Amino acid sequence: MVGPPGPSLAALEASARERLDAAVWDYLATASGDGHTHRWNVAAWPRVRLAPHNLVDVSGLDTRLSLLGHELAAPVLLAPTAAHGMFHPDGEAATARGAAAAGALWVAATLATLAVEDIGAATTSPWWFQVYVQRDRDFTIELAARAQKAGASALVLTADLPVVATRDNDRRDVLGAAAGAVYGNLAPLDLRALAAGAHRSQNPHLDPRVTWDDVSWLRSAQRLPVIVKGVLRADEALRAVDHGAAAVIVSNHGGRALDTTPATADALPAVVSAVADRVPVLVDGGIRRGLDVAKALVLGASAVLVGRPYVWGLAVDGSDGVRAVLDVLQRELETAMALLGAPTLADLTPDLLWDTPASR
Ligand code: LAC
Repeated sequence: MVGPPGPSLAALEASARERLDAAVWDYLATASGDGHTHRWNVAAWPRVRLAPHNLVDVSGLDTRLSLLGHELAAPVLLAPTAAHGMFHPDGEAATARGAAAAGALWVAATLATLAVEDIGAATTSPWWFQVYVQRDRDFTIELAARAQKAGASALVLTADLPVVATRDNDRRDVLGAAAGAVYGNLAPLDLRALAAGAHRSQNPHLDPRVTWDDVSWLRSAQRLPVIVKGVLRADEALRAVDHGAAAVIVSNHGGRALDTTPATADALPAVVSAVADRVPVLVDGGIRRGLDVAKALVLGASAVLVGRPYVWGLAVDGSDGVRAVLDVLQRELETAMALLGAPTLADLTPDLLWDTPASR
């Protein structure tokens, strides 16, 4: 039985802004530079025009998918975002409960408030663990092993942030912590000593020396599959696959890394074409509607990740808020699929794009 439509993501954003401390909101909302990429991310999905197939039986909609060995209810994952304790007292435990309630896979961040052991204890649905390769490589491998022991089923290597980008509203302390954030996983690191040795543009928990060799190293030094996040170029997607990536995530860090990189909706097609089904291609950035999710799959993504929107839900209503965001996107995705004449995810194909020869 379909219940009343949940709050729109826009309404949750407004409520979250009202509830959160200004510095915490600024950290969540901030984009890098002048925010062009962040705006382009959100603006690009509506520019993707569709030409539905009409008179199709859409009485049996099915949004399920299999992704890297997990059977998921919908192609919407929770992207890694930092320090959920800034947004809700239960932190990532609330996020995990919300994801599980919606049957969604979520990606826990290295910069989580909770340590991986506590994240694993709170998580009953599939989860991946996002990693920044640390200056201390032994620490990185130890943390990866802890994540695997805690139940993570893949590592997501963030490749697009060797240093924290220029962000006018992202006030960090000397240890690189945002707005009073506490990073439970980094406790063993002497961040003060790392900060003392770092250039002023660098952050103690990032390493500007990371290269593609580290992707191979990360794969060989532990047993979890490695997913590369932050890919925008077709040639780099191929490099990721050649270095053994189990999947690639087309991402510009939610417009929080280098400004004026393209919207992920614009970068996605070339990456999909280059990867040519060798591994799943996922995409994040600017997803605000279930219709955006449908468009991402029409453009060739296997699934999408959302970031800020579920943190809005977390801030407003904890695990119920996270679940509400996923429910809204699922509901809107199902409606979009029905109106597109696409009853299953496999039916969300490029011929639904308006500007293809078949549709003119
Ligand atoms: C950010 C980093 C921590 O976007 O991923 O804030």
